[in-house]
Amino acid sequence: MRFKSLVKDLRILGGESLLKGKFVVVGGERLSGKVRVNGAKNSALPIMAATLLAEGKSTILSIPNLKDVTVFMEVLESLGAAVKREGHKLEVDATNLNACEVPSDFARKFRASNLVMGPLLARLREVRSSYPGGCAIGSRPMDLHLKGLASLGSSVKERGGFVHTSTDGLRGSDIHMDFPSVGATENIMLAATLAEGETIIRNAAREPEIVDLQNFLNSMGAKVKGAGTGTVGIKGVKKLHGAEHEIIPDRIETATLMIASAITGGDVCIENAIPEHVEPVIAKLTEMGVDVLVDNDSIRVMADQVLGGVNIKTLPYPGFPTDVQPQMVALLSTAKGTSLVTETIFENRFKHTAELRRMGADITVEGRTAVIKGMPKLSGAFVEATDLRAGIALILAGLAAEDMTVVENAGHIDRGYENIAEKLKALGAKIIRIEN
Ligand code: EPZ
Repeated sequence: MRFKSLVKDLRILGGESLLKGKFVVVGGERLSGKVRVNGAKNSALPIMAATLLAEGKSTILSIPNLKDVTVFMEVLESLGAAVKREGHKLEVDATNLNACEVPSDFARKFRASNLVMGPLLARLREVRSSYPGGCAIGSRPMDLHLKGLASLGSSVKERGGFVHTSTDGLRGSDIHMDFPSVGATENIMLAATLAEGETIIRNAAREPEIVDLQNFLNSMGAKVKGAGTGTVGIKGVKKLHGAEHEIIPDRIETATLMIASAITGGDVCIENAIPEHVEPVIAKLTEMGVDVLVDNDSIRVMADQVLGGVNIKTLPYPGFPTDVQPQMVALLSTAKGTSLVTETIFENRFKHTAELRRMGADITVEGRTAVIKGMPKLSGAFVEATDLRAGIALILAGLAAEDMTVVENAGHIDRGYENIAEKLKALGAKIIRIEN
């Protein structure tokens, strides 16, 4: 049945309400062609927080047009910054910050808002924020953030779901992280740029987004070095000025598009990519039998044969990224043989497996490991996105499944992928996004 008439029939049958806020996918199309990756969400958010450190205007280029970025713009405005977005360009002038409290609505629902704590402590010597809520993938505490900020000489009071930190002046410190937390590393880096003296962060996160943040901070007049290694050094300065910076490409979107090609037996070239940032994904896809051709800023992914299963363990960078685990589980559900996927970063990041089982996948979860027995074909179903990466994994499964898949709670996916339906459609997919 033609895709358009199918969706029209669903509307006529009163399916409109069923399809609101959903992606509708009809599987079976081999993806082919070229697609361009946007700027990285997980680089844009900490860099937007960093603009609060400047007494002046910063211009950020290649900002992705995502829900999370829009929400973060509102957080910055609520603190007194002047914010303006034109396409993929964002201007933030934080000269006149006039609030040190993150509105609890943002703080509870949007974890990344905790990244403003470091800058506000550094600029205003005080910040109040409600604890970020847990989310579908885990409780996501903030103890490592608060421990780091306390080491820099701030007092931390927690009461009734709120945290209040203040200082009479931040001082550099030698900090060893219990775990290489991305957000905690970023928060400490941000605060330390204006602390007195030198800060060393040991066992720091090594993600490429940390390096991107270092580069932006240094362009503002900060003195940061070592990002990307496990040890980051920051020499405090008196003040920072605004700067211009271009966000690095999104390695998670890159990996997601690579898997979209692989799961459909396609031939797709991903442009504006940094192959080095997705090395573990390239290694695993190659191990499965996917052909991956790497150029300096593009990656071609071809998969014209049946793929074999592999074992995966998520680890902090440069290990296999947890943000690509759900997408790989979808791919492995259609590969030959049995695969084991172990999630070591988040305690509850297998909610997509229940939805994939509704599509015929054979997956059992035992503790932090999913055992996946590959099936020759999945079948379309009504499924629900429980979080951003689980949601995109269901779209990928829908691309390869027979018949139609409807992925509800599309809003989760809008948080991290700009125009994903248009990108996939341009590669030959039968997919539409039904507005809320
Ligand atoms: C960042 O989250 C990313 N988000 C996440 O991407 C990503 O999954 C994660 O890093 C790991 O790579 C952004 O960059 C905006 P963590 P973050 O602190 O900083 C525990 C996506 O889909 N932990 O490295 O919150 C925590 O509970 C999102 O784009 C503590 O115990 O991650 C988790 O189990 C999802 N105490 C683990 O560490 C703390 O104080 C990793 O968390 C902080 C974290």
